[in-house]
Amino acid sequence: MSKYKGMSTAAVHSGEAKDEQYGSVNVPIFQTSTFYFPTDDPRTWEGQVPDGSYIYTRYGNPTVRAAEDKIADLEGAEKGLVFSSGMAAITATLTSLLGSGDRLVSVEDVYGGTFNLMKNELPRLGARIEFVDSTKTPDIVAAITDETKVVYLESPTNPMLKLVDIPTVARAAHEKGATVVIDNTFATPVNQNPIAMGVDIVIHSCTKYLNGHSDLIAGAVVGSRSQIDSLWKKRVVFGGSLDPIGAYLLIRGMKTLVIRMAKHNENGNAIAEFLEDHAKVEAVYYPGLKSHPQHELGSKLMRGYGGMVSFEVAGGRAAAETVLRSFSLIKKATSLGGVDSLASMPLNSSHAALSPSDRARLGIKDSLIRLSIGIEDIEDVKEDIDQALRRV
Ligand SMILES: Cc1ncc(COP(=O)(O)O)c(C=O)c1O
Repeated sequence: MSKYKGMSTAAVHSGEAKDEQYGSVNVPIFQTSTFYFPTDDPRTWEGQVPDGSYIYTRYGNPTVRAAEDKIADLEGAEKGLVFSSGMAAITATLTSLLGSGDRLVSVEDVYGGTFNLMKNELPRLGARIEFVDSTKTPDIVAAITDETKVVYLESPTNPMLKLVDIPTVARAAHEKGATVVIDNTFATPVNQNPIAMGVDIVIHSCTKYLNGHSDLIAGAVVGSRSQIDSLWKKRVVFGGSLDPIGAYLLIRGMKTLVIRMAKHNENGNAIAEFLEDHAKVEAVYYPGLKSHPQHELGSKLMRGYGGMVSFEVAGGRAAAETVLRSFSLIKKATSLGGVDSLASMPLNSSHAALSPSDRARLGIKDSLIRLSIGIEDIEDVKEDIDQALRRV
């Protein structure tokens, strides 16, 4: 539990200890690979260091620690760890939890890199993977058996913005003794707190909203003290630690997370409504829209719906490519969650590695454009989308 009354205060202050040496108001960047052994006792030279001491930055670093404590506090978790990328966080978590013969039940429309890990890498270690439709709660519950070790969720999903009934799935998983992991990147702790819904481990690609400025690659995992302590041992071995400058950028980004998300939520909603009424648009996917098939579930789980909006352009793939090419203010780029609006086509970016039939099964049409709406003035964004749509 955060010691602060609200998340804005936690975003600014959590994890930040006063710099006793010089009184720096900001967390200093401890740009060092190594630290003096903390005492002359040879046991501390072997790594048995007192709490709050550091020996080597792959193991831990004060700047990195501050980022970890801030994220854990925002998610209502006991402890956190940051990694050199979201994929490093996901890989370390899943390879730590799963062994040969263990079963993983995962929603099928996870991020492309995660799908690749599950489909091609985890089976090489002997894990058995079963994919389920994120919107079919009874099917997910039925897939979780006594042999299931881990249940992996993403909600909202990428790029179709489908939702998972997180509390129901978490309850069913715990009845069978499985650990529940969720990628909360799209929602952020501002819009959704999975730990309060019964989830055990929350993962973020901090590259996205947590950092918020499209200038960092980083990942995070938060959970109970014991889970994170075990994962820390794996991070030491696997080596995917975040560097101190990266941790500083993440801290700096997170200070404004709450006000940025308020603007992303407002802008995302406005663009989804604008697109829904547009003659050149065939379908819009945004959980904040009343027409979204899971809007009611969304209103129970989420406090806001973020800046991710997907839509299908009337006229198919060629028309969608014309629209994408015609954006001017909106930058044609992959990734998401930054202050600048970005647009991409899942067909040839995030979901290019999937076969056409896999994309069709997930509902990803060739005419789909995925927008990450930034924090610009909404009239400028609308005008850009409108002029691009008028080209087709
Ligand atoms: C939902 C989600 N999870 C994880 C990742 C992977 O994060 P990273 O690119 O920081 O490794 C991404 C990247 O796009 C993502 O969108």
